[in-house]
Amino acid sequence: MTTNQLKIKPLFSEEEIRERVTALAKQISGDMQDPNNLTAICVLNGAFIFAADLIRAINPGGFAVDFIRASSYLGEHSTGTVCVSCDLKQDIRGRDILLIEDILDTGHTLSALIRHFQDCGARTVKTAVLLDKPSRRVADITADYRCFEIPDDFVVGYGLDYNEQFRGLPYIGIVQTKTEQKNGVID
Ligand code: IMP
Ligand code: MG
Repeated sequence: MTTNQLKIKPLFSEEEIRERVTALAKQISGDMQDPNNLTAICVLNGAFIFAADLIRAINPGGFAVDFIRASSYLGEHSTGTVCVSCDLKQDIRGRDILLIEDILDTGHTLSALIRHFQDCGARTVKTAVLLDKPSRRVADITADYRCFEIPDDFVVGYGLDYNEQFRGLPYIGIVQTKTEQKNGVID
């Protein structure tokens, strides 16, 4: 797909995503101790499609769902500062949290959100990510559940954006700039 200067090179098809999300949901369902005490929390905006599919595939479905918005900034010394700009609507004291995020990149966002939920009194916090870029990691964190590991490429689709574009693509693809196309960085 090409939009203006950008070309998107498909990475994971709709079918591959569906298979992995279904498998992950099965794993999560199997590990779940107390579904009635679970709150699934989707990190907006990027995780909204992944969360919608994952939540519907997890059985049993009798758990609470909430949303949070977080942005991460890199400070002068490359320490990520994460701003939670839209907090939870529900009380999570004593709850088991399943935190659903699009990409685990440097890890600053997830680390900060885990600390935030612990400060709010959550009993346990587990993380489910669509994509994991381990080569970019700065914070000491691994996801409890993940669909795919990817290299250090910028990806879009299935909820993920590039300047708010491409969230609605049903597949996940790598963004290729015009310069990269010319230089043959990605074919
Ligand atoms: P970090 O783990 O704190 O560095 O932040 C991860 C966040 O950066 C994700 O939630 C995404 O919003 C964003 N992000 C990182 N890599 C990509 C990408 O390849 N495409 C789209 N968003 C990305
Ligand atoms: Mg995000």
